Amino acid sequence: MRLLPMRLPSRSKLSLVAAAFCALAAVDAQAQATGPIKVGFMLPYTGTYASLGNMIESGFKLYVQEQGGKLGGREIQYFKVDDESEPSKATDNVNKLIKRDQVDVLVGTVHSGVALAMAKAAKDSNTLLIVPNAGADAITGPMCGPNILRSSFSNWQPGYSTGVVAAQKGYKRAMTITWNYAAGSETVKGFTEAFEKGGGKVMKDLNLPFPNVEFQALLTEIAAQKPDVVFAFFAGGGAVKFVKDYAAAGLNKSIPLFGSGFLTDGTLEAQGAAAQGLFTTLHYADNLDTPRNNAFRKSFALTYKAQADVYAVQGYDAAQMLVAGVNAVKGDLSKRDALTAAMHKVTVDSPRGKFTISAAGNPVQDMYLRQATGNNNEFRGVAVKALADPARGCKL
Ligand code: PHB
Repeated sequence: MRLLPMRLPSRSKLSLVAAAFCALAAVDAQAQATGPIKVGFMLPYTGTYASLGNMIESGFKLYVQEQGGKLGGREIQYFKVDDESEPSKATDNVNKLIKRDQVDVLVGTVHSGVALAMAKAAKDSNTLLIVPNAGADAITGPMCGPNILRSSFSNWQPGYSTGVVAAQKGYKRAMTITWNYAAGSETVKGFTEAFEKGGGKVMKDLNLPFPNVEFQALLTEIAAQKPDVVFAFFAGGGAVKFVKDYAAAGLNKSIPLFGSGFLTDGTLEAQGAAAQGLFTTLHYADNLDTPRNNAFRKSFALTYKAQADVYAVQGYDAAQMLVAGVNAVKGDLSKRDALTAAMHKVTVDSPRGKFTISAAGNPVQDMYLRQATGNNNEFRGVAVKALADPARGCKL
């Protein structure tokens, strides 16, 4: 085969090509600074946490709507992936948003195991991530970084504040029950730390695989051991079933059930009489009588014909945090350092009350004692003021 001699372009042609390339790159950069901001929701839209995912998305979009539909003067384009609360699919799912859709910011997710994979992918690709629920301690612990922030809580926080209250009420012997994954075990760890510091003792930890709801054998064991108090972490559809089963077994008459507030948040209508009177702690209470919370709940109810819950608040606040960053750089997301610095510095005027963000990226917030009354988790006092996650293992 004869090779054809290759004709090299002249110097002037080369510089023309280079100039055209630079011009295209400049147009592209401008389009990036003026085109829509791409927001990627990775949330559960099916399974036991489906309603939590929907509430987060609704809350986020409500705040954007209140800003006139734009962030820092730029339109928003949404992308969505259903993560099914399935850790084994999490890396593939998050890469759909990072690589295929090339989103500017990831918003997700609910399940701690899925969120851990998201945080790793966000770190590896230097994508901005706002976690609107999942409490995995490691996300604002060993995995912390400037572009990873949470609008929600660490698992340790509501566990710890419930442990403080249970010890203050004078209970001495506790049993815990939860799903066997990061959210369950870390929440129980937080509870145990505070409860034992306050003079109590956790006799036994019970658990079952996520998202199983076959509670009968474990309830039988609780009935046999007769602790002073039971601490539970469950959420969504699983929490509905657990609270009903606890009451159906008659245990609510003899052994007080405490939980992090997810046990009764967004679930009270479905739990009915079984949940009435339950004490939980969380960074939100439905009836916080502040102008901010009242306005938020009214706006949410008008827009969605549904009552807001803690997940809606966390979605709403994720948008508030993003807006604080985007406004600080006037919509120019290439100024990443200035953007994330502004997100860390903001005091979020949340329906839950004002909160700040720790250096590790986690809310520093008041934890409330609430009691399930009708369809509301009613405020009964501040369990722990301005509780900061210890951020163990976070090196910045
Ligand atoms: C979690 O997996 O971190 C998680 C899930 C649901 C909740 C709270 C935490 O309500």
